[in-house]
Amino acid sequence: MAGLSLQKVKKRFGETEVIGGVDLDVKDGEFVVFVGPSGCGKSTLLRMIAGLETTSDGRIEIGGRDVTGEDPAKRGIAMVFQTYALYPHMTVATNMGFPLEMAKRPKEEIDRKVAEAAKILHLEPYLQRKPRELSGGQRQRVAIGRAIVRQPGVFLFDEPLSNLDAELRVQMRIEIARLHQELGTTMIYVTHDQVEAMTLASRIVVLRAGRIEQVGAPLELYENPDNSFVAGFIGSPRMNFVPVTVVGVEGGKAMVAAPKLGLTGMAVATRGAAPKLGTAVNLGIRPEHFVAADGATSALSGKVTLVERLGGVTYAHAQLPEGGTITVESRDARSFNAGDGARFGLDGSRAFLFDQDGKRI
Ligand SMILES: Nc1ncnc2c1ncn2[C@@H]1O[C@H](COP(=O)(O)OP(=O)(O)O)[C@@H](O)[C@H]1O
Ligand SMILES: [Mg+2]
Repeated sequence: MAGLSLQKVKKRFGETEVIGGVDLDVKDGEFVVFVGPSGCGKSTLLRMIAGLETTSDGRIEIGGRDVTGEDPAKRGIAMVFQTYALYPHMTVATNMGFPLEMAKRPKEEIDRKVAEAAKILHLEPYLQRKPRELSGGQRQRVAIGRAIVRQPGVFLFDEPLSNLDAELRVQMRIEIARLHQELGTTMIYVTHDQVEAMTLASRIVVLRAGRIEQVGAPLELYENPDNSFVAGFIGSPRMNFVPVTVVGVEGGKAMVAAPKLGLTGMAVATRGAAPKLGTAVNLGIRPEHFVAADGATSALSGKVTLVERLGGVTYAHAQLPEGGTITVESRDARSFNAGDGARFGLDGSRAFLFDQDGKRI
């Protein structure tokens, strides 16, 4: 088992900087998830940790040891990819034992470690099968087994569940969480799926264009985002952003209004220096934080354009007078109807303010 440290790590492909100076410390035994949109550099950063990509600048330590220029095989890591890359002609047992076979370990040790991994992954009944006789989820478990037998200090996962259908993804997500509980080994897990990040991570690293936007426990990011990018990325459906104006400031709160949207005034807590009166800012409100609108409540007026009734929860999509749209969650399946005008009640204590650059106010 091992911790990990990235110090001012950069990656350039030719002239293009893809990783722009990443600093991160991962404690031994942590489950850290790198999340961000496609192309933001998640795989590149993970491959640099693995040693599959060179590091242009900065330093990578695993277990307190500088591994920046070291061979992948010597880093004490094991990586699981989106594609399982199993050998089709080999059995499950031979596939799992292959890294040990390559390292010329004794047969007794290989058999023992394969048996242990098969037990952890519930693969015991399938050891003599070929990959084509397995489901997608079972194949991915074999690929994980191949990583486990090496007893790495750090597991690296690159979108390991992306090839599976939705139901299997949920199942395998639980399996991976259980695996981490059972092994207690440091895991770095890359995904573009914020739900996977929220459910698996002890800490989430949100990446954007090769830089870290914010690092924190899942609920820290959800409840206290540093900027509109993180606020919009974490949480599903995504946060609504509505343009409003600061019309008052008092005691750590800003009064904001948007008369054309039906919002006459609402107090929202601010983080640091009070914004100036008259400043145009963005109000961030999550779909799940709207409240029933009565006469006294702050509210936005809009027209319901589409209602998604999922049974337990309903999402109303609405058009605002100025052209923006919002998504509103409701537990009452009959509360909204397409085509209706409606008032969407706001709770200022659950709202956020962001400046024009997206920074939290
Ligand atoms: N070998 C390469 N040569 C040039 N550019 C690359 C190479 N690999 C990745 N990139 C670029 O680096 C950026 C980050 O890619 P990647 O790490 O795969 O993103 P992610 O995994 O977050 O989707 C992308 O713009 C991609 O085109
Ligand atoms: Mg990738």
